[in-house]
Amino acid sequence: MENKLDKEVKVGICGLGTVGGATLKLLTGENSDEIRRRAGASISVSQVATRTLNHSQVDGIPCVGTDPFAVVNDPSVEVVIETIGGYDPAYQVIKQALSNGKHVITANKALIAERGNELFEVAQKSNVVLAFESSVAGGIPIIKGLREGLAANKINWLAGIINGTGNFILTKMTSDDRQFNDVLEEAQTLGYAEADPTFDIEGIDAAHKLTIMSSIAFGIPLQFDKTYTEGISEITPEDISYADELGYKIKHLGIANRSLSGIEMRVHPTLISKAQLLANVNGVENAVMINGNAVGSTLYSGPGAGGDATASAVVADLIDIARHKIARSESPIYPSLGYQTMYEDAQILNIEDIKTEYYLRIPAMDRVGVMAKISSILQTHGISIEAVIQKEPISEIVPIIILTHLARERNLNLAMNEIESLEEVAGAINRIRVESFEV
Ligand code: HSE
Repeated sequence: MENKLDKEVKVGICGLGTVGGATLKLLTGENSDEIRRRAGASISVSQVATRTLNHSQVDGIPCVGTDPFAVVNDPSVEVVIETIGGYDPAYQVIKQALSNGKHVITANKALIAERGNELFEVAQKSNVVLAFESSVAGGIPIIKGLREGLAANKINWLAGIINGTGNFILTKMTSDDRQFNDVLEEAQTLGYAEADPTFDIEGIDAAHKLTIMSSIAFGIPLQFDKTYTEGISEITPEDISYADELGYKIKHLGIANRSLSGIEMRVHPTLISKAQLLANVNGVENAVMINGNAVGSTLYSGPGAGGDATASAVVADLIDIARHKIARSESPIYPSLGYQTMYEDAQILNIEDIKTEYYLRIPAMDRVGVMAKISSILQTHGISIEAVIQKEPISEIVPIIILTHLARERNLNLAMNEIESLEEVAGAINRIRVESFEV
């Protein structure tokens, strides 16, 4: 009988940074026998391209250079792992590899979210797989969970903490009363943050990940440009402490929701009850709740960033591809986004059309009648108040904290403009959306 373990899959790795380096280590280290047994084939890294050569890191690799195109154009390489990150040359590297008939595994959420529609088409034409488990939520197998595990469901909504750096920063600001920039520096040192940390802080990284999950959840094309994105840079220690007084934590969430009026895709800081499981996911951990119409609510949590955790997802994709090769199947293991046909025309709602509850921090002057004026404006726009806290004056200003009941964002924006133009209001209102998820 043929010994399946005689089979070999030849892999090339482009980029040996945090994720690529950890992937190489995982493939060649103490797990290599287990990986080989699970894949049903031995996996050999035959080529590596890296900008910064560290000889001890690539010991035993037959071919090492600096040109990623040498890897994707090598006829003996069957699977390319793209861990360069960023747009260029990663995009050209992936496209060339797919066109050359090689399977590609990437952790590059920016490219999948922004150029994925095109890249999946190239993969389909070449009858190869473009795998991207590691692009969302690091080590959590959320793509496989959503695409395979929950394939029988209509997904109603999903909500998650999908940026480890942002969660790390908010957690440390909350627990250690530390400043934003100080914690960011620590996240960068630990290898969590993107090369350009504004991607983490301003929510772009989370929006990339939400775009990918929404496409799988609702069977829609990848539409990063329609994902509403707001970061955490405006969150202050005061907001964290007022939210705490009201029974909430502030988390940076990606939320996708399907209703009769359309699909919502939004990333923003959010007040959630302290009793919610998501509120207790701290540090660099990520967690995603998914509600399906058959299964109900499910929760997935784990390390969302870092080399080893992300490498775990990269290698899982590689094992899938090796198993597929062993099975000698004619077609790729799975349709990349999990749909044979897409809902091309599904309506994506503008942020002004969503309805939610709101936390408002209004910097008001300490004058008679200001609260009455604010309440009257909210009432005019059909917004009802759930709770109010008026803090001690800070110099001339008293912060007024309001929690609203459900309101349409368009109405809230009108009310906020009117309130900000009151002479008794000394500056911009800080507005944070509030969500309660049925579990
Ligand atoms: N910068 C990302 C994060 C890395 O902090 O979540 C993982 O995608």
